[in-house]
Formats: sequence, C-alpha cells, structure tokens
Amino acid sequence: MTRIRVHADAARASAAVARELAAALARKRALVLALPTGRTPIPLYEALGDLCRRGDADFTRARTFNLDELIGVAPSHPSSYRAFMDRHLFSKIDIPRRRTQVLNGLARDSRRECARFERAIGRAGGIDILILGLGRNGHIGFNEPGTALAASTHRVPLTPATRRANAVWFGGQLRRVPREALTMGIGTILRARRIVLLAFGRPKAAVVRRMLEGPVTPRLPASFLQLHPDVEIVLDRAAASRLSRGGATRRPSA
Ligand code: GLP
Repeated sequence: MTRIRVHADAARASAAVARELAAALARKRALVLALPTGRTPIPLYEALGDLCRRGDADFTRARTFNLDELIGVAPSHPSSYRAFMDRHLFSKIDIPRRRTQVLNGLARDSRRECARFERAIGRAGGIDILILGLGRNGHIGFNEPGTALAASTHRVPLTPATRRANAVWFGGQLRRVPREALTMGIGTILRARRIVLLAFGRPKAAVVRRMLEGPVTPRLPASFLQLHPDVEIVLDRAAASRLSRGGATRRPSA
C-alpha cells in the first residue's frame, strides 16, 4: 500500500521521518537502512543528528547501505557520495564507520563490487527501511529513465539531466561530473521491507504526480514503487500541489 503524507514544509516532514526512524531503531537496534544523497535528505540527516545528540536515537548497532556512488571518484574526494554521507550524517550520529557501506566508485572490477555489495546486504538480513529521494526525471538511486532497468546493483551511464543536477557537488562544473555510476537496482530497492520516499518543492510536483498516478513504466523508474506493499511518500505542500486530489486533502502523520 502507498501512503502519502503531506507536511507544511520540508523541515517538518524531515523531523517527522527522523522521529519515525528513531522509533524504528528503538524497536530494532540492529536496523538495516538504505540511504540516499542529494539535497532532499539533508534536513532529515540534520534532524537525525539532533536526535542522536539528545540521546533520542541510537545507531550503534544499525547498518547502512547507500543507494549509489559515482564512478571514478575516490571515497576520500569531497565530491564523492561517501564524503557527502560522512559530512552530513555519519559524523553527526553514533554509528561505527565499519557499519556504513557505500559502493566504491574506484573499484577496478565494478561487477565484482556490485556483487559484493548485494552479498553484504543479504548477510545483513536485507534492508528494513530504504529512504529515497526522487530525481526530476523520475530516477531513483541512479536508475535512469530509458535505460535497461536492472534488478540488482549495477553500473549505469548518467543522463545529461542528472549530470547537470549533480554539477552542484562539483563546484558547478559539468565537465567534472562523472558519466557513470554504480546503483542499487530496481529489484534491490523493491526488496526492502519498507520504502520511504522524500520529495520537496515545486520542481518535483510533476514527477510526483506521474510517479503516483501514471502507469508503471521504465520511462519513469520511480513508478515501480507502485508495486511495493509498504511505501510511504513524504511530501511538502509544493511537491504535492499537482496530485489530482490535491495535497491539502492528505493529512500529515504528525
Ligand atoms: C541524485 C541521486 C539520487 C537523488 C536525486 C535527487 O542524482 N543519485 O539518489 O535522490 O538525484 O536529488 P535532490 O535530492 O538533490 O533533488
């Protein structure tokens, strides 16, 4: 079932999701999370840092797997997704570094790296909660529209639109943005027991509507979430503004 929660703004939405994650961690300390990068989850990561500092969230036994990583960028490079996660989340919570997994964008054999990552998810017992952002073209992770959608973690070319969106992490210089990435596949994502997708702001409103109200199609990878039994879509009013029943009819949980 897909539940849609519309909050007044991204800060309130993120605080509500952070509280839900803290509650899930209290029920199961060894929770397995999958996490995105991008601008969208930054307020969520800030809220999780605050909860942790106040002693209201305990990540010491949790495990995390990141959705994707850019190819050719060293983990130590400030533009890598590993560095993003260290900066915005892992340095703010009490998770041991060895319990955080980000695909290695410098792996010489990307197929082996992807297989290793899938095995690690399996050994961890599978993903309990997978948090997603949403690309403006409907990508989730780096599963891009119009590419062959693979079931498991794999190597993908990035579309020009996604490279432009990622230029912000490379000092605005498009030519420095890698052309390929490693990403969890649609199957990896759909195998998570629970999915929480965050989308904020008016630029996401059209793709949110297509994801929820349009057909399930590889032209819009996020539409595959319609097939999952436990999905929560967390929006602010602007991102919900083009839904056919209108965001206003859907009440936030908190
Ligand atoms: C990036 C990431 C996605 C992310 C998306 C949206 O390219 N690979 O995982 O969800 O784009 O980014 P933003 O949250 O900045 O809009």
